[in-house]
Amino acid sequence: MKILVTGGAGFIGSNFIRHILSAHPGYRIINLDKLTYAGNLENLSDVENNPDYRFVKGDIGDRGLIEGIEFDAVVNFAAESHVDRSIIDASPFLQTNVVGTQGLLEVVRKRNCRFVHISTDEVYGSTPDGLFAEDSPVMPNSPYAASKASSDLLVRAYHETYGIEAIITRCSNNYGPFQFPEKLIPLVIANALEGRPVPVYGDGRNVRDWIHVLDHCKAVDLVFHRGRPGEVYNIGGNNEWLNIDLVRLLLSTVARRTGKTETGALGLITFVEDRAGHDRRYAIDASKIGRELGWRPETGFEEGMEKTVEWYLANREWWARIISGQYREYYKVQYGQRLG
Ligand code: NAD
Ligand code: TYD
Repeated sequence: MKILVTGGAGFIGSNFIRHILSAHPGYRIINLDKLTYAGNLENLSDVENNPDYRFVKGDIGDRGLIEGIEFDAVVNFAAESHVDRSIIDASPFLQTNVVGTQGLLEVVRKRNCRFVHISTDEVYGSTPDGLFAEDSPVMPNSPYAASKASSDLLVRAYHETYGIEAIITRCSNNYGPFQFPEKLIPLVIANALEGRPVPVYGDGRNVRDWIHVLDHCKAVDLVFHRGRPGEVYNIGGNNEWLNIDLVRLLLSTVARRTGKTETGALGLITFVEDRAGHDRRYAIDASKIGRELGWRPETGFEEGMEKTVEWYLANREWWARIISGQYREYYKVQYGQRLG
């Protein structure tokens, strides 16, 4: 089995590649990634010499390039993924998430292969109560969510029109190792360790459902092998937190583990202007994937959070190189000569 994993140099994609290589010996992975600011091959430094792994630098919209690659199936993680950036400039979101996905779908249509599209619970929009199910209306509120919803609709249309074996997954907020430190959890940990203010948007009472990235990867693995074409599967942690409570928990954990005072750490919290159109609450019903495929999250939140803080403490160099911009050199040094 040769799987084309797109966006594999990012947070979830790199965790997924590592998971597949260890869970399915003999599978081969081709990681197609454009290496935008969010792509970092250091995330995969431990597998780069694995003969079952290959990296190809490129855009998911580049049909000519992808047509020249041999693969049996696709898992599409590649995307512009940060809501705040989509508010500043939506164009790259439309280019990659919508136009790029359509380019990839064209190759899949010709190849007639299985296609798993990684989407987000954000396509459902915000709800004050209750849970979104797979058949809830798609009502995105941010340009990011709108671009993901558009790509979902294209995937659905290609399944209905051309019969491609496509499946969509919609997951809630992920946390864990290798998350780019623009996202809430790594940003809070890094700022706490460096004594910088920790920005909390608005009143901090927005709610997100948090899931460990490895649980997400295992769910995608199951969907990839056993999911039904044409279906959508929600993936969630059943673990809702107010942002402010999560930030306090993270700061207390960092303080405890580094011998700092909790009061000092909590004192870093700085309420800042709210994000435009900030969704109040995301919450999904992930019972379908449990019922049909027997999946459930395995990582308890407290354990997952402790391990995550520990990882960012132990891998300070990794995120410090991102913050300083040095990580951009890795590709040139490690791959420059090999790829020209
Ligand atoms: P990320 O920003 O960390 O990584 C995205 C990767 O895609 C990067 O390596 C980037 O270089 C690559 N990429 C961007 N544009 C590309 C293009 N045109 N062609 C090829 N590669 C390109 O994102 P992430 O957090 O790992 O998210 C991965 C996927 O999961 C996204 O589709 C996102 O919408 C979805 N998702 C994320 C979360 C979350 O909490 N992070 C939750 C649900 C769904
Ligand atoms: P984020 O990690 O950007 O994920 P998403 O917007 O996709 O849910 O943000 C998680 C929540 O944290 C979201 O409600 C916005 C909020 N937030 C802050 O309060 N401060 C920050 O510095 C960031 C990055 C996010």
